[in-house]
Order: sequence, then structure tokens, then C-alpha cells
Amino acid sequence: MEETLKKTIFSGMQPSGLPSLGNYLGALKNWAALQDDYNCVYCIVDMHAITVRQDPAELRERARNLLTMYLACGIDPEKSVIYYQSHVSAHAELAWILNCYAYMGELSRMTQFKDKARRHDENVNIGLFAYPVLMAADILLYNADLVPVGEDQRQHLELCRDLADRFDALYGDVFTVPEAYIPKAGAKIMSLQDPEKKMSKSEDENDGNVIFLMDEPKVIVNKIKRSVTDSGSEVRYAPDKPGISNLLNIYRAINGETAEEAERDFDGKRYGDFKAAVAETVVGALTPIQNRYEELAKDRAYIDGVIAKSAEKARTMAEETLAKARRAVGFPDR
Ligand code: TYM
Repeated sequence: MEETLKKTIFSGMQPSGLPSLGNYLGALKNWAALQDDYNCVYCIVDMHAITVRQDPAELRERARNLLTMYLACGIDPEKSVIYYQSHVSAHAELAWILNCYAYMGELSRMTQFKDKARRHDENVNIGLFAYPVLMAADILLYNADLVPVGEDQRQHLELCRDLADRFDALYGDVFTVPEAYIPKAGAKIMSLQDPEKKMSKSEDENDGNVIFLMDEPKVIVNKIKRSVTDSGSEVRYAPDKPGISNLLNIYRAINGETAEEAERDFDGKRYGDFKAAVAETVVGALTPIQNRYEELAKDRAYIDGVIAKSAEKARTMAEETLAKARRAVGFPDR
């Protein structure tokens, strides 16, 4: 397909904590798969990460590791733009403009804000509150048609659409109104010990809840073996089997099966056998990624090159939309 006829995809991930299986199945896995059919822009959203206190040296290191992980998951810098948000100042500039069109009321209703404000009550800063506006700026700068994310970002996407509509209603056609692209099975991977809670890379003190993408095979096997076991003995989806349902989701988010096919695979099997099979599937998916990661991490010059080249491309794309928005609100021409 011709570049210009392709639709555009934008997505991002915070370099806070180590990337988890939830991040992979909800987002990263799809990002790589979409590269041939779309113009893709994938960002490491370090400006979002500082809404919660970070150790500066660690943040810098994690951002680089996350970029390396994008590449290890198959995102190809020849096809997609991969860059650090803080390298493109248009994000901050458009976020400011959009702040003046976003309402306190709608931002106060964001469940992620309420949740994080509760957990970080010593530091409920303006950035945390305005976080979804920066996220809207990210997406709108690149005229994204589709935004591949997990279920937890749906509300932020809705806000982004509302802001784009509101702005365009005032000033004409400045922004593209994006759609969320949420996978079926991987949309919401739950904690292994507490499957009523989302698997979260940065907010969980209990390591047994989260599979990290760089976990060694035996660690993965152990975490899955120790995951909560629901009552009963059948392997099937059921509201009273949140643990088993979650493992079924992990299993089929990796192998692409339907719910019925996955249940059929474990017909008459015991929980123990099922967990072993899920662990094997996860290890099978992550081992090649881990091997590529180790290889790539050694090649510092290559990673530096990707960073320099992609940021330049991102800047050029973002500037074009930013110029339109500046003009629309009445800033003098430069
Ligand atoms: P973040 O960094 O929390 O998560 C990155 C991506 O991983 C998905 N995800 C999950 N999917 C399934 N199950 C889970 N347990 C799980 N945990 C996380 C998230 O839905 C997300 O897609 N605000 C965003 C980052 C962002 C962004 C953007 C995304 C900033 N600007 C613009 C898209 C477009 C965030 O905090 O994601």
C-alpha cells in the first residue's frame, strides 16, 4: 500500500516500572502486527512518567530499555517512528493549548486520576490531573486514526475524541478524531494473585502478581503455578473463576484462539496441567523476545542511531499539526 493511503496509528507506553505481560498483550504485541498496514508512530512517554516521582537516573535507563524492548518485540524503525516524547517539544505545546479547552469537571471524572491520586496522596500534582490532556496532544499531533491500547485507556481515548471534536467545532477541521483499537483477549490482563485487579507494572508491591517481559522461564513458571486457584476443577470461563478466566485470556491472547477453542484444549484437564500449558505458552512467546533484547541492548550505537533519526521524523510530523492548532487559536504567524 502507498504510504499516503495508509491510515495512521499512534500509541505509547510509560517508562515507569518494567514492562509487563499486560503491556505486551494489551498493546505491544499488536503494535508490531500493525506496522505493514499502517503508518505507525510509537512513543516512549517519559513526560507522562514524571507525573509520579521517579529517580532521574533510573528513568533515563528505563526509557532506553523500553525503547530496546519495542525493537525486541518486532517494531521496526525502518517502518515505524519510535521516539522519546521529551525529544519532541510539540507535545508540551499542544498540551498547553488543549488545557485551555479541557474542563476541570471532565478531568476529575477520570478513574485513573482518582486511583493514582489516592495512591500518591502526598503528590497530587497538576500534571497528574492534566495527564489525559497531554495524552490527547500525543495522539492528535500525529493525526492518528487508530490508537492500539488496553482497556484501561478507553476513558482517556474518549476524552481525546471529545477534545478533538470540541476544538474542531470551534475552528474547523484541525484534528483527526481517533478510534481506540482494543484487542479481544489481551485487553485487560489481571493480577495473578488478585485477579480482580489489573496486572500493573508500576503499582504492585507483590512481584508474584506480575509477569515481567524479562522474567526468566523458571520465574514465569513459578508465578503461574502459584497464581490463585479458583474453586471447582473445570477449566472454563466463569464469573466465579476470575483466576482461570485470566489465564485463559493470557493463553489465547498469545495463540489467537477463540474462547471456545481454548476451553476445548483443556476439556477434562486439571488446573495443574492447565497452568503448566499456559506457562509453556508464555515462555514460548517471551523467550525469542528476551533473546533479541539481549542482542540489541549490546549494540549501543544502533540504539543511539534509532533515537536520533526517529525523533527528527516525529518532530517534522508533529510540527505540521501544531502549526495548524497555533493558527486556529489566533497566535501570530512565525
Ligand atoms: P501504560 O504505560 O500504563 O501502559 C501501556 C499500554 O499497556 C496497556 N496495559 C494493559 N493491557 C492489558 N492488560 C493490562 N494489565 C495492562 N496494563 C497496561 C495499556 O492499556 C497501554 O496501552 N497513558 C498511557 C500511555 C500513553 C498513551 C498515549 C497511549 C500516553 N500517551 C497516547 C496511547 C496513546 C499509559 O499510561 O499506558
